[in-house]
Amino acid sequence: MLGNRQTNINGFTNYFSMGESKKHKVIELFAGAGGLAIGLENAGLDTVFLNDNDKDCVATLKKNKPKWNAVHGDIRELSFDGIEADVVTGGFPCQSFSHAGKRLGFEDTRGTLFFEFARCVKEVQPKIFVAENVANLERHDKGKTLKVMLDVLTDLGYDVQYKVLNALDYGTAQKRKRIFIVGTKDGLEFTYPEPVKEKKVLKDVLKGVSDSEGYSYTARRKEILSRVKPGGSWTDLPIEMQKEYMGQSFYSGGGRRGMARRISWDEPCLTLTTSPHQKQTDRIHPEETRPFTVREYARIQDFPDKWEFVGGTASKYRQIGNAVPVSLATAIGNAIAASLNQENKLQPQTKTEVSVKAKN
Ligand SMILES: C[S@@+](CC[C@H](N)C(=O)[O-])C[C@H]1O[C@@H](n2cnc3c(N)ncnc32)[C@H](O)[C@@H]1O
Repeated sequence: MLGNRQTNINGFTNYFSMGESKKHKVIELFAGAGGLAIGLENAGLDTVFLNDNDKDCVATLKKNKPKWNAVHGDIRELSFDGIEADVVTGGFPCQSFSHAGKRLGFEDTRGTLFFEFARCVKEVQPKIFVAENVANLERHDKGKTLKVMLDVLTDLGYDVQYKVLNALDYGTAQKRKRIFIVGTKDGLEFTYPEPVKEKKVLKDVLKGVSDSEGYSYTARRKEILSRVKPGGSWTDLPIEMQKEYMGQSFYSGGGRRGMARRISWDEPCLTLTTSPHQKQTDRIHPEETRPFTVREYARIQDFPDKWEFVGGTASKYRQIGNAVPVSLATAIGNAIAASLNQENKLQPQTKTEVSVKAKN
């Protein structure tokens, strides 16, 4: 399939060859509903190409930003040969590698979506790339998955570092940890953004939110959950109700901290997931016994109110739940812009060593 990649993406090549904008150009892969892309734009970067294989995501991007070149399709079908961009970003879904103890090279990761991200970096040769993923990537397959990724990206000629950032530290009213793997070349330096001092809580972002569609609980679930106090969880329930609500989880030790969890106005939300009515990750509204609505979800992920989501309710929740919160994305965008802006000040230098820096 790789030999047959189509550049069947309307105007893709032409768009890139226009070269009129002086802003730093970004290719955003796995763009979803645009959380990361909005942040990069807030930072003054020029997102010239976005891709996702989910048609609702691409429709969302096109609806809100008709001028963005958002292309629907499987990344495996895209060719990036001859394309110029300063930055490549993307939150690829995480998959395991079969490595049986060997050091894997670029070609050995073929068949994974990480490979497609790395292939784009290889073909485009950006000055900087940022790969985003769930924080658990650090521990995935006892750290081997991350190590393969760092090795492959380093072999492409980049200085690679990574860090787990919590969106709560960057102006989002949500505890949401994401790993950011950053690569630079030719001596370009990148510094992760500094946390902000003021931490937001739920009431800071849900004030004045407009009504919107959203899921509700069944009558019985609502009856049970109505007994949970703001900030509380299943431990607020009488023992018989705990058993009824939690099923097998009542008897198991782990994985139940999020059950029947009602968020209070005075705390940050727990990580939003792609579906708001999974029992293991309940996030109940502080006052009303229901999950957050679609627009409340969007507020908690810092999307602007004017950002519209296309698709059915489940799709909207998924698009929002998958996103990088816009405040965190903006902080990353500012750090990328700062890195690129110091480029002119750099003396030409010979690179002597490629290193992998692990930061936490
Ligand atoms: C974690 S989400 C990215 C969220 C996005 N960065 C944001 O901030 O809104 C990952 C995205 O990868 C897309 N995706 C999965 N497989 C893909 C493929 N083969 N080609 C293109 N996109 C793909 C999914 O549809 C999903 O929207």
